[in-house]
Amino acid sequence: MAIKPIVIMGVAKLLEESKLVTEFNSPFLTELTQDMHDTQRHFDGVGMAAPQIGVNLRVIIFGFDVCERYPQQLPIPETVLINPEYEPLSEEMALDWEGCLSVPGLRGAVSRYTQIRYWGYDLHGESVAGEAAGFHARVIQHEVDHLNGVLFVHRIVDWRLFGYEQVLDLNLNGNNAA
Ligand code: NI
Repeated sequence: MAIKPIVIMGVAKLLEESKLVTEFNSPFLTELTQDMHDTQRHFDGVGMAAPQIGVNLRVIIFGFDVCERYPQQLPIPETVLINPEYEPLSEEMALDWEGCLSVPGLRGAVSRYTQIRYWGYDLHGESVAGEAAGFHARVIQHEVDHLNGVLFVHRIVDWRLFGYEQVLDLNLNGNNAA
């Protein structure tokens, strides 16, 4: 169990392109994903990318049973995805609120694909693939963005839909399809 400090917006390393994982089945990789899991749990996140704990490798995790930061969302199975990729299954996109442990206290409305197919590898180098929709799809797109040095704030189009989470009106007036 190791809860790591979260790298927050403003640290240049968070804006770097992360490197592909080339060695699987390693104690390093097992420890990294365990630390990510413990850290995500501790800070009540729904997903996390390795650069958020200072490791610029293409590793993401996502999934939760209950999340107090997103209380209205259904559970997502816990998944480790290494060298992740995705493609949209339809052109449909939806605007919804997003937050990030690296951008504490703030939320912004970001447009994401509503349905995706994703793939990558598990800790042992075995292929993992699946489909995701809605919030699940949003989380995966958000975490993959981290591996390319992209934060959700970089995708905000309407800056009126950005603010502190404790005061935001979370109703996007019908735009919320995710
Ligand atoms: Ni994030």
